[in-house]
Amino acid sequence: MRKIAVAMAKGGVGKTTTAVNLAHGLSMLGHRVLLVDCDTQGQTSKFLGVTPKHGLYEFITGKDRKGEYISKRDAIYASRKNLWLLSGGIELVELKNWLGEQPRDVRQMLLGKALIPKKGTLDYLIFDCAPGWDVLSVNILMAVDEVLCPVALQAPSMEGLKTFFGYLMSAQKLNTDLELKYILPTMFDRRTRHSFVILKQLNKMFKRQICDPIHYNVRLSEAPAKGQTIFEYMDQASGADGYRKLIRRVNSDGSK
Ligand SMILES: Nc1ncnc2c1ncn2[C@@H]1O[C@H](COP(=O)(O)OP(=O)(O)O)[C@@H](O)[C@H]1O
Ligand SMILES: [Mg+2]
Repeated sequence: MRKIAVAMAKGGVGKTTTAVNLAHGLSMLGHRVLLVDCDTQGQTSKFLGVTPKHGLYEFITGKDRKGEYISKRDAIYASRKNLWLLSGGIELVELKNWLGEQPRDVRQMLLGKALIPKKGTLDYLIFDCAPGWDVLSVNILMAVDEVLCPVALQAPSMEGLKTFFGYLMSAQKLNTDLELKYILPTMFDRRTRHSFVILKQLNKMFKRQICDPIHYNVRLSEAPAKGQTIFEYMDQASGADGYRKLIRRVNSDGSK
């Protein structure tokens, strides 16, 4: 099973868009995918047009907020064929408090421990991360092997990248398997010089990790309001082509 965090220190760079479309694309190839929403904004449910009753909070703590027992199976929502969701949202504020109260030596590992599936039941775990750095982000970076980092081709994005590298390096001290595997340039706009300048910089810095850029595409920003992925909303849009390329690349790196 491959475990990939879609993460970046900045908001609005296309993390959720990437996590949702990557997860759906892989599931359409026949892989069994669990998408884990680790953001208090809980956008993945909206992007998929579903309203799960429970989610990551219940999955980890084993209870709902009233203290009723919730099984792991009930916390997971079947959102499409081969695509399951552990939804995020405001309950994650409480999850972070709960994690903070756990013994210091285990608290960073609880997410990874809770998410070990039965052998052969899942092919991909995809995490949609929040921009900041807290006990939940640390847990994610302890639970995964690969990081996919979307970088918006806009002026201040290199700063976000620097901040994120700081996070990543401190996490790599604790999780030596953790690898920055993919840099995904997003919001590529041919009309702006910025796009080309930043893309060139990224190409130089990340020869191995750099992926083909996702173009700025208004269809990608319309799809969430319909509760559809780009492949459902407009399969022929340039955004769909962009994400198909990414999915091909990730898929061609094989299974683990
Ligand atoms: N390539 C793109 N072209 C146009 N709009 C995009 C693109 N990628 C994402 N968006 C839109 O930009 C906003 C931020 O994207 P989102 O994926 O939510 O970012 P993050 O999760 O990093 O905060 C959303 O409204 C989304 O629909
Ligand atoms: Mg997001």
